[in-house]
Amino acid sequence: MPMRKRIIAGNWKMHKTLTEGLELVEMLKAGYEPDGYYEVVVHPPYTLLSPVSKALEESEIRLGAQNVFYEDRGAYTGEISPVMLKDIGVEYVIVGHSERRKYFHEDNETVLKKVKAVLRHGMKPILCVGETLEERESGKAREVVARQISILKEIPVGDMEDIIIAYEPVWAIGTGKTATPELAQEMHAFIRDTIEKMFNREIAINVPILYGGSVKPGNVYDLTSEDDIDGALVGGASLDADSFLAIIKNAARKII
Ligand code: 13P
Repeated sequence: MPMRKRIIAGNWKMHKTLTEGLELVEMLKAGYEPDGYYEVVVHPPYTLLSPVSKALEESEIRLGAQNVFYEDRGAYTGEISPVMLKDIGVEYVIVGHSERRKYFHEDNETVLKKVKAVLRHGMKPILCVGETLEERESGKAREVVARQISILKEIPVGDMEDIIIAYEPVWAIGTGKTATPELAQEMHAFIRDTIEKMFNREIAINVPILYGGSVKPGNVYDLTSEDDIDGALVGGASLDADSFLAIIKNAARKII
């Protein structure tokens, strides 16, 4: 059975000018020592994708986007299509981030269209799921996450090998309040079980499930030591080369 993919991804969100972004990439390239365990991905904003793609040509660091529109082309002012992303070397696309759900009103239906568009063009969607504080406090965390995951029912079994899930509890994003490793593990195991029920055991075992929400050099080891946590989706701490490199270095290398 192939070992499932492990990923450390940096979501730069709406940060970095061209000069700043290229400086960060050069520092990451200089400091990154690939050991084959984690795939490392950076997700710069759209304006930096093409120059960062060029800068990463000789590197093992992969390129990801933070969003995409679901149509291939057309009169959609302000949108970027999967064709355009693929064309410049993007391999991963974050889809359904809670900030997109909250500020741009993306619902599960839109998120599904985006997941399909990413797959259609041979890229890998990182599907973000996670509950708000209110949903957790009212005991609805699992229900919310299960509903967000349920869109995958529409994905052909053969495409599931390209799907990555990121569990990002909304209350842990940018707040410094990380989920405890136990709480995160519990939800990751629930997500894997849900995938098993929707598809089968092999698909469930192979789907990478990343944790996101205030991941830092000091907490990444404990989080990634958990059985069902296959890496991290890092926001704030990916904006600084030293801290992102420390996260890559400190993340657990589990023997399985
Ligand atoms: P922070 O690491 O800044 O909490 O952000 C997490 C996140 O939203 C990554 O997509």
